[in-house]
Formats: sequence, C-alpha cells, structure tokens
Amino acid sequence: MIFYFTSTGNSRFIANNMAKALNKPVTSLNEVFKNNLKLEFHSQSPFILISPIHAWRVPKKVENFLKNAKFTGSKEIYVIVTMGEDCGLTQKYCKKMIEKNNMILKGFKPIVMPDNYFISAIMKSKDENMQQIKDAIPTINETIDLIRKNESFFQTEYNKNDWFLSSVGNWGFNNFMANSKSFTLSDKCIKCKKCVNICPTNNITLNEKISFSNKCMFCLACLHNCPVHAIDYKGKMAKNGYYVFPQELENF
Ligand SMILES: Cc1cc2nc3c(=O)[nH]c(=O)nc-3n(C[C@H](O)[C@H](O)[C@H](O)COP(=O)(O)O)c2cc1C
Repeated sequence: MIFYFTSTGNSRFIANNMAKALNKPVTSLNEVFKNNLKLEFHSQSPFILISPIHAWRVPKKVENFLKNAKFTGSKEIYVIVTMGEDCGLTQKYCKKMIEKNNMILKGFKPIVMPDNYFISAIMKSKDENMQQIKDAIPTINETIDLIRKNESFFQTEYNKNDWFLSSVGNWGFNNFMANSKSFTLSDKCIKCKKCVNICPTNNITLNEKISFSNKCMFCLACLHNCPVHAIDYKGKMAKNGYYVFPQELENF
C-alpha cells in the first residue's frame, strides 16, 4: 500500500508511478486528512509513504500519521521524500515516529524535484522544471527496483547544519509560520472553490468571499493551484512565481 501527501503534485507523481510499477494500491493522505478518515490500513508487503519536505522534515500531519495510524500485516514502512534541495534529518525523525508506532523504517530516500517554496526561492521556468523531473526518473526507477527486491536503503550523508534546521528551524516554522494569517486574496478571485476543495485541512470557506480559518498547515496548495493566482503571501508569489506539476508529464 502506497500513501502520498502532496501540495503541487511531485509526490503524487512518484506515488502513482510506483503504484503502477509495483502493482499496489495508492491512498491520498490529502483525502484522508480532509475527510478525517479512519487511520487503519492493512498490507502484507511493506507500506510506502511518499511525502514532500516542509521545513527539513515531513509535514507535522504526516509525522503524526506515521506515529498514530494503525498498520496491520507488514511491520515495515519505506519513506520516500521529495524536496527542493535539503531534507535535513528527516530520516531520523521519521524513524522515531515509526518506532513509536512499533513499526520499522525499512528504507529512506530523498529525491530532488522542482522546489515549490516560493517564499524564499524563485520558481524555475516550466522547461527547467520538466528537465528536473526527467532527471529524477532514474533515481525513482532505482528506488522502485530496490523496493521490488525488498531491500533496505538509507541516507548516510548529512550537511553540518541539518540537526539545527530539522529541530529549531522546523519548530520555528510550525509555531510561527504555519498559519494563513498573512494570506491575502485579490479581487481576481473567481470563486471557483478550487482552493476550498484542495485544502487538506478544510481551512478555507466560501461565503460572500473566500476566507481562511486557523487550521492552515502552510502546505501552500491553495496558492499554487489557484487558476487565477488570487491568493498570495506577503506578495511573494507575485514576485517569485508559482509551480504545479506539469500535466504533460503526468503519465511520463
Ligand atoms: C512549506 C514548505 C516548506 C518546504 N521546505 C523545504 C525544505 O526544508 N527543504 C527542501 O528541500 N524543500 C522544501 N520545500 C519544497 C518541497 O519539499 C518540494 O518542492 C516538494 O517536492 C513538493 O512536493 P509536492 O509537489 O508533492 O507537494 C518546501 C515546500 C513547502 C511548501
């Protein structure tokens, strides 16, 4: 069984391709979180999670999923993360959550994909993003092969600031940044409700106009996926651009 969480499609792309290659069912954690579904899953073979990195760890909701979901059948979980450039000590934190749940981390692989963190990075052109995705395909295929052979694989190299980024940096992100207080809505909004439907925490509602509540996990899915780019964060998206996984590559 393969789980994925995604804001802009990178992790979904890998999950869907793994599902096809390994002939396994896929579950969207976006749907699980949004609909508050029961966290009970069964698989005879190791579970596989594909998640983006948010502030040098998997998102807190995904960590909680690893810690609290009831997994039956296999005791093992592979974690594959997609990231712009650095996942810090994510492997260590995932292992900790998985072991608290009496499960075993069977393997961990970070895969570089297009960066969607427009808060601090300028989004690349569509051609550059498509090339980066194509460049990741050999790594994705190697990972699929290792999982098919039931092998273990782990990250062994770290950067020297990783412990700080995944602890203090991640704490700062979750406590001071992960909210929608600074989201703004322009009058370009066409009230299509795409943001309402895509938000995994049901933080967005449409009455007279779109409004944000206090459940935002700062995944930025609403900003990137808005068809008219009516939502922004401190003018950063207008300045640095947006990203969604290119449709042309969805079945690549
Ligand atoms: C809130 C947020 C924080 C992020 N933090 C990191 C990070 O610490 N390191 C990194 O390499 N990429 C970071 N990224 C980039 C994403 O991990 C990367 O683009 C990922 O592939 C997106 O996957 P998705 O399309 O499945 O959501 C961040 C993205 C967001 C939205």
